[in-house]
Amino acid sequence: MMTERRTLVLTVSPEGEPAERVAQAAALLRAGKLVAFPTETVYGLGADATNATAVEGIFTAKQRPHTDPLIVHIPDADGLSGVARDIPPIAWELTRRFWPGPLTLVLPHANRIPTVVTAGGDTVGVRSPSHPVAQALLRAAGVPVAAPSANRFMRTSPTTAAHVLEDLDGRIDCVLDGGPCGVGVESSVLDLTVTPPRLLRPGAVTLEQLRAILPETLGPDERGGERDTPGSVKRAPGQMPRHYAPRARLVVFDATGAEGAEAVLAAAGAALAAGVPVGALVPDEEAPALERLGVVVARLGPVDNPAEAARRLYAGLRWLDERGRDPLLAHTYPRAGLGLALCDRLRRAAGGRLTAPGAAAWMETGTARDEA
Ligand code: TXA
Ligand code: MG
Repeated sequence: MMTERRTLVLTVSPEGEPAERVAQAAALLRAGKLVAFPTETVYGLGADATNATAVEGIFTAKQRPHTDPLIVHIPDADGLSGVARDIPPIAWELTRRFWPGPLTLVLPHANRIPTVVTAGGDTVGVRSPSHPVAQALLRAAGVPVAAPSANRFMRTSPTTAAHVLEDLDGRIDCVLDGGPCGVGVESSVLDLTVTPPRLLRPGAVTLEQLRAILPETLGPDERGGERDTPGSVKRAPGQMPRHYAPRARLVVFDATGAEGAEAVLAAAGAALAAGVPVGALVPDEEAPALERLGVVVARLGPVDNPAEAARRLYAGLRWLDERGRDPLLAHTYPRAGLGLALCDRLRRAAGGRLTAPGAAAWMETGTARDEA
């Protein structure tokens, strides 16, 4: 079914030098090949969005179901009319404010976008990534590029080229290695085909920033009387509760600050007493107390810096997995700004649920793995 390929690794600077390597990757994309590349959020697995056969390859490589639509990447707003139609003035305003950057807009799709990209729906997600390597690649390719995160389906998104190879080596044609990603969590996805608009997935363009322009914007879990286009694809495809998950079971206590720190410390102590190889993913300030107990800790940066925690989250989960830690313990951050996206990804990585503080939580039956 899947032919084994040699994955070519092309290393460039974070600015995209030497340009010949970017040109080589762009030529592969134009030839219908699969190329993973860095964006400011996470690494994407790209294919020419106008080539249905090439895009099919993404689904095969990732083992992703066809019900999950792909985001189309373009270098700037000039390309938007080639990908979407019936573009409302607010979409142009948002592109002026946030592009290039981590904001995906869901709009009615243009005819040249094949069904495999849109999962058979009437809409398409479009974004213009700001990473210089992504910018250079898209400009050199000269075609819109469909790209999901470059991980196997249901696994943690990659923030380095090494993560991409861990999941997809031999399954894709090329990875353009431009170093680690700056944001670390996937783009904000804003649906402009419903009234009022809804943020389907929180990200680094925050709900607060969007509401400064579009005050009526609904958050991911907010109820609202939005009107839907009849026959359109289900609203948040691919937004299944268990997503972005490590191999180990992750328990995320729904508590911030000192309460969160105590919840992790107590659960870790109980787990160690039972001889369980527990790992933790916590702010820097909380690491020493856990390490003194013998817990393996991935540090998320200063407690008051959710942006740093977002940047380190996926790498931290992979690092703890490699060390055979299971279960993993973490806690939430305040749900403001980038903290909303961070809590969303923590919850999904934990199998779609948060846990009330309590030392016995690590013993709960039914691991995320069993549910998969
Ligand atoms: O930051 C990102 O967005 C990264 C980088 C590579 O650009 N891409 C990414 O793609 O996260 P992916 O496929 O892993 O997640 C895309 C998600 C889909 O699962 C779906 O929830 C939403 O975006 N999406 C895409 N197209 C959509 C559409 N037409 N309508 C509603 N949601 C859509
Ligand atoms: Mg993904």
